[in-house]
Amino acid sequence: MNNLLSTAVSTAPPLTSPGLTRDQIEQRVRELGDWFHNLDLNGVKTAPDHFLGDYPRIKWQGFARSIPADLRGKSVLDIGCNAGFYSIEMKRRGAGRVVGIDSDPGYLAQARFAAQVCGVELELRQLSIYDVAQLGEKFDLVLFMGVLYHLRHPLLALDLIHEHVARDLLVFQSMQRGSDAVETVAEDHHFWETEMFERPGFPRLYFIEKKYAADPTNWWIPNRACSEAMLRSAGFEILSHPEAEVFICRRKELPDGPHALGTMSHGPG
Ligand SMILES: C[S@@+](CC[C@H](N)C(=O)[O-])C[C@H]1O[C@@H](n2cnc3c(N)ncnc32)[C@H](O)[C@@H]1O
Repeated sequence: MNNLLSTAVSTAPPLTSPGLTRDQIEQRVRELGDWFHNLDLNGVKTAPDHFLGDYPRIKWQGFARSIPADLRGKSVLDIGCNAGFYSIEMKRRGAGRVVGIDSDPGYLAQARFAAQVCGVELELRQLSIYDVAQLGEKFDLVLFMGVLYHLRHPLLALDLIHEHVARDLLVFQSMQRGSDAVETVAEDHHFWETEMFERPGFPRLYFIEKKYAADPTNWWIPNRACSEAMLRSAGFEILSHPEAEVFICRRKELPDGPHALGTMSHGPG
């Protein structure tokens, strides 16, 4: 199979607009409600006062160089695509098919309009990450960005991506809190060994019972070690870490073992 990271670099093609006036775009942007993605739709900014700045463009700038510049002939799945910022960027890089899924129909409506203004074809579907098996296909590049910490079952989501939709590359991003330290994970620990739970580089997933940042859908926030450990555990080899929250990964076959979607094994303790 063609290795995605070895494809040649090309110049991104310009995107065209279907000829809406600025007033028409502004009006439709307002009608489509609150935007999380600050897109530039022919000069109209969709979320100019975003609390993270020009988001997600500033995030994208931190890792854009780490994924193939030429995606011609490649298929892309954008999980939790929101208003389509990354989906549109993948089309700018020439991706053949870009499928964007999101559980929120309001965000999908924004993505549909953004794609129309930018003159790109996106396949947008209202679908939960937990239902990705329904897509019935694997994609050359899967984007799973800014979604993990919104899930009550984050490891299940990674397992489902591995099992059903990832063929080669995964771009993963999560909000992270706690230490940035990463320690090598031991093969096993004695039942009475507890000191490692205090070490900052041990994988930790913080559970938010109520709200974080006024958002009741922030459930689990990993530290960096935990992001890395969960990715490995779900069958993703980390190729690079170009930005504090972003990991570029390659899908690997998993050995037999106690994985969420595989056989359970029981040991002492
Ligand atoms: C923080 S935004 C991230 C958007 C985009 N991926 C990015 O990185 O900028 C989280 C997105 O995930 C979507 N989402 C939340 N839970 C989901 C689920 N179970 N399945 C699919 N999408 C989900 C939300 O509707 C929202 O659009």
